[in-house]
Amino acid sequence: MKLEDSVVLVTGGASGLGLATAKAIVAGGGKVSLMDRPASEGEARASELGEAALFAPSDVTSEEEVEGAIASTMEAFGKVTGCINCAGVGTAMKTTGKNGPMPLKHFKMTVEINLVGTFNVLRLAATKMLENDPNEDGERGVIVNTASAAAFDGQIGQAAYSASKGGVVGMTLPIARDLSRDGIRCCTIAPGTFDTPMLALLPDEARQALAAGIPFPQRLGRPEEFAQLACDIIRNPYLNGETIRLDGALRMPPR
Ligand SMILES: NC(=O)c1ccc[n+]([C@@H]2O[C@H](COP(=O)([O-])OP(=O)(O)OC[C@H]3O[C@@H](n4cnc5c(N)ncnc54)[C@H](O)[C@@H]3O)[C@@H](O)[C@H]2O)c1
Repeated sequence: MKLEDSVVLVTGGASGLGLATAKAIVAGGGKVSLMDRPASEGEARASELGEAALFAPSDVTSEEEVEGAIASTMEAFGKVTGCINCAGVGTAMKTTGKNGPMPLKHFKMTVEINLVGTFNVLRLAATKMLENDPNEDGERGVIVNTASAAAFDGQIGQAAYSASKGGVVGMTLPIARDLSRDGIRCCTIAPGTFDTPMLALLPDEARQALAAGIPFPQRLGRPEEFAQLACDIIRNPYLNGETIRLDGALRMPPR
């Protein structure tokens, strides 16, 4: 699907990987709806992007708010052809320890946002895409989810995060199969360690240690590199049902 024909919902679009992807889509001639929490900087980021962007405040776990965001996207741009799921939270807590077991609410909250939220948005977005006339390749839309290298090699403290991202990887193929008759593709990107506000919370030393463990290039990933792959997935009609690691050959150690 051509970027210039695209109207894309970008969750987590106010920051990091989502914002970089929204910028790349707009630079390629497409339109974006930045879906992010009402308290995020979505309004400011959307106005920097200009008329091709809209801020649609919404929590990905809310059916009502996501439906509202899709409705305002339809009103502004007339269709939805893409959905890039970048909203997520990075959490860390061990299964149990001297302070007792991980509270179940920690595990549930992580899965609720990263996995259930992703599915909530994509199911509603795909339903809207069914209304599109297919393009010359028979496509009505494309979905790109964000997992993590932690879906495959989660570290100590990542049981909840890895479970949430493993779920995103696991549902990618069946969703692609579900939507194949309708010409809607679904792929997932599993990033390694990227230089975004999520990682900026770590001290410099920890960021350098992370970079040192990456075979090549030995640095954190740039959000623009994630955006480039997301745009490639939109453009390439033969990419479907697959999870692509984007990690400089990083395989994460236990800690
Ligand atoms: N940065 C990395 O190294 C890295 C590595 C692997 C995977 N990821 C994944 O990439 C995605 C993007 O991460 P990032 O690094 O850009 O982080 P980020 O913190 O910069 O951006 C995440 C955005 O998601 C939004 N968000 C969080 N919960 C939300 C909710 N319930 N509803 C709507 N919006 C919500 C936040 O407001 C924020 O704007 C996440 O899913 C993260 O797990 C990041």
